[in-house]
Amino acid sequence: MRRTEFLSTGFHVPARVVTNDDLAKIMDTSEEWIVQRSGIKTRRWVSEGDTGVSLAREASLKALAKAGLTPRDLDCIIYCTCTPDHFEPGNGVFLQRELGITDIPALDVRNQCSGFIYGLSIADAWIRTGQYRRILLVGAEVHSRGLDKTTRGRDTAVLFGDGAGAVVLGPLDGNGAGRGVLSTHIFADGRYAEKLWVDGPGLAHDPYVSVEMLEQGLHRAVMEGREVFKFASIKMPESVGIALAANQLKPGDIKLLVPHQANLRIIEMVQKAAGLRDDQVYINIQRYGNTTAASIPIALDEALAEHRLARGDLLVLTAFGSGFTWGSAAIRW
Ligand code: UT7
Repeated sequence: MRRTEFLSTGFHVPARVVTNDDLAKIMDTSEEWIVQRSGIKTRRWVSEGDTGVSLAREASLKALAKAGLTPRDLDCIIYCTCTPDHFEPGNGVFLQRELGITDIPALDVRNQCSGFIYGLSIADAWIRTGQYRRILLVGAEVHSRGLDKTTRGRDTAVLFGDGAGAVVLGPLDGNGAGRGVLSTHIFADGRYAEKLWVDGPGLAHDPYVSVEMLEQGLHRAVMEGREVFKFASIKMPESVGIALAANQLKPGDIKLLVPHQANLRIIEMVQKAAGLRDDQVYINIQRYGNTTAASIPIALDEALAEHRLARGDLLVLTAFGSGFTWGSAAIRW
């Protein structure tokens, strides 16, 4: 069966850099705490006029230009985000409109930090079966407007950043000399749904939005950080092992692991548990914080710009996030 290849990558982050010291001016936190617990030094936050879709458009246009394609060459959009611009419709159609195209499908994926791997899994299946030939897969987030930027919300406010990453995917001709997406594995365990969630507004509530709800802060993401940390440290390396086993590969075969960038300490634990050297793991959380569905495509584009990956190298992706959801992908670049 034909395989899927990455034709190009691109990313875009807002210009506004927010340092840990900037945060320490508005809430009770410190550069020392944030760096020691998460490894994050700066993150990007949107300015007036930016939206998730405007970030996604810039990332998409960069990826399309690198592939020598225009929006009209696309036959499908998959948009992964947990911070949509509106309750409905999903961001996919707004991005399609921004790109000046109509009629092709625009699918929204809501699997938070694992969104990009979930989206890749869908795109890969569609391309392998021949349903679509040119898929734009986007991960884009605007967290900053939803964060509780007071001391009450400091455990999450310091972690999340805004940004967008995009890739263009297409079928390899013939057997592609063993290249392309070798496998994707995606998982979920809804028993932990409330460990990291935004309760409302939501149609489980009647009325679905109220002043009381907002006063209680139900519209803010709340997290049991230690639980998330514990599971991420177990499930991410486990999913790397699953990707390797499915392809009869070993940790030493990995040229580059691009993990979801949630916390430097989590990444270090994943690296250790997966038995990888420093040069086998790409890390850029210091600069962008946790951009959930955007983190892997942003990191991948930066890794490529730094020549960390060449044709024929083995790339492995892994992610873990709210839901809980997690997964991995193995790609012969
Ligand atoms: O992509 C998936 C999304 N999320 C994650 O991956 C997050 C996973 N979890 C984590 O990264 C970590 O659990 C955190 C970075 C969120 C927190 O680190 P921790 O070492 O687990 O700290 P903690 O939650 O146990 O809190 C330790 C202390 C607490 O104070 P007390 O109770 O010991 O007095 C917190 O109130 O640190 C306090 N604290 C802060 N202090 C300064 C929490 N947030 C902050 C802050 N600045 N921003």
